[in-house]
Amino acid sequence: MSPKVEITVDGKHLDIPCVVGSEGEIGVDISQLRAETGAITLDPGYGNTGACQSNITFIDGDKGILRYRGYDIAELAAQSTFIETAYLLIYGHLPSRAELSDFSDQLTENQMLHESMRNHFEGFPPTAHPMAILSAMINAASSYHPNLISGKNRRRRFPYHAARLISQVRTIAAFSHRKAHGLPFIYPRSNLKYTANFLHMLFSHPGEPCELKPEIVRALDIIFILHADHEQNCSTSTVRMVASSEANLFASAASGVCALWGPLHGGANQAVLNMLKEIRRDGDDGTKFLDQVKNKAAGKRLMGFGHRVYKNFDPRATIIKQQCDKVLAQLHKSDPLLDIAKKLEEIALADDFFVSRQLYPNVDFYSGIILRAIGIPEDMFTVMFAIGRMPGWIAHYKEVMDQEKPKISRPRQIYTGPTQRAYTPITER
Ligand code: CMC
Repeated sequence: MSPKVEITVDGKHLDIPCVVGSEGEIGVDISQLRAETGAITLDPGYGNTGACQSNITFIDGDKGILRYRGYDIAELAAQSTFIETAYLLIYGHLPSRAELSDFSDQLTENQMLHESMRNHFEGFPPTAHPMAILSAMINAASSYHPNLISGKNRRRRFPYHAARLISQVRTIAAFSHRKAHGLPFIYPRSNLKYTANFLHMLFSHPGEPCELKPEIVRALDIIFILHADHEQNCSTSTVRMVASSEANLFASAASGVCALWGPLHGGANQAVLNMLKEIRRDGDDGTKFLDQVKNKAAGKRLMGFGHRVYKNFDPRATIIKQQCDKVLAQLHKSDPLLDIAKKLEEIALADDFFVSRQLYPNVDFYSGIILRAIGIPEDMFTVMFAIGRMPGWIAHYKEVMDQEKPKISRPRQIYTGPTQRAYTPITER
């Protein structure tokens, strides 16, 4: 039964309806609040604000639950592939063999970039961060499909463009790495599956295909699955907001890449590695660093720890940590940074500062160590996150596009600036 909510603002009374989600979450529907009382809600950071109803991903942050379309993340990581998961997120059901085969064919057909896009890559200086290249090139790719821009075609051509975007993001990502390192572009191969093909474009040399160890390909595939969606996070909300203006899919996804880049969001995986390296350089075992975090004076955070939603554990972090040990063992590698990370985790999980604030390792804490072991350069870490998150962004784009009563996202504000004042000409100031 829907709970009863009432509000009175300056004597104006409103009975507020509630929406109850399929997992029992309660949303207080304040859509009539301003019209009936003149007041708005204020929730900086949106920690208490539901911006939409969505049937894509469910998270219970207290219990550490993450499900895509009802399927538990651990089950998907153990049994699914990134491409099957991408289909699930976008179309809402696990694909049949025929559907998966069609989807894979579409990805293969769309894996090449338009040849003249090479010129765009040439325009970036060697110092360009691959995330800057990625967002710019995803947007640029829409220029080659003018039919994308039209509102009418958005819906009709969606499956084609969704496949195109998932396929091309990995080609653009690999090319941005090759460009940044002055290496020749390696074209995708039609006989390779999604993740193997990406590693091939990243690491092969002309006439010298790189070794593709199945365990390593699978580890990266799992990383992509774990990143594939995470409901209304910063980048996905950005994608949904841009999509609400009826911007095209590529423009909306490019905005997601920009939002993801920041160190408090997807950029955290690169920030974690930098932090671990700094600790190692200082000859610290993590204790000194954690003291600095706790006294807050140095403005340091324990990167890869804490989450707006998870207040117990991040189920993705548990899987990534196991993968980390597995990949290092398979590659017969050890990494002193992994030892530091484990030590940091051990100290933090026993320290009241972190425990009382419910700060636990998140997905980014160990992912950088696996990516580093695979040989992925650090400035590509957040790009890996973006490749993984693309199906989620596309699924949310589709959800916005398919709304019965679409509404442009347009929050309000409480103005705190000066009240009206008279203009003074410069001669009198
Ligand atoms: N290290 C030290 N203190 C922290 C940390 C941290 N990583 N995270 C939060 N806190 C403290 C914060 O200082 C505050 O303390 P106090 O109450 O004394 O002022 C308290 O915990 C609450 O922090 P908050 O910033 O209000 O929490 P939030 O929900 O707004 O922020 C977060 C969530 C992820 C931005 C934050 O935990 C953080 O900055 N973590 C480090 C960056 C990181 O790893 N980001 C990746 C998130 S997972 C990938 C993704 O989905 O984006």
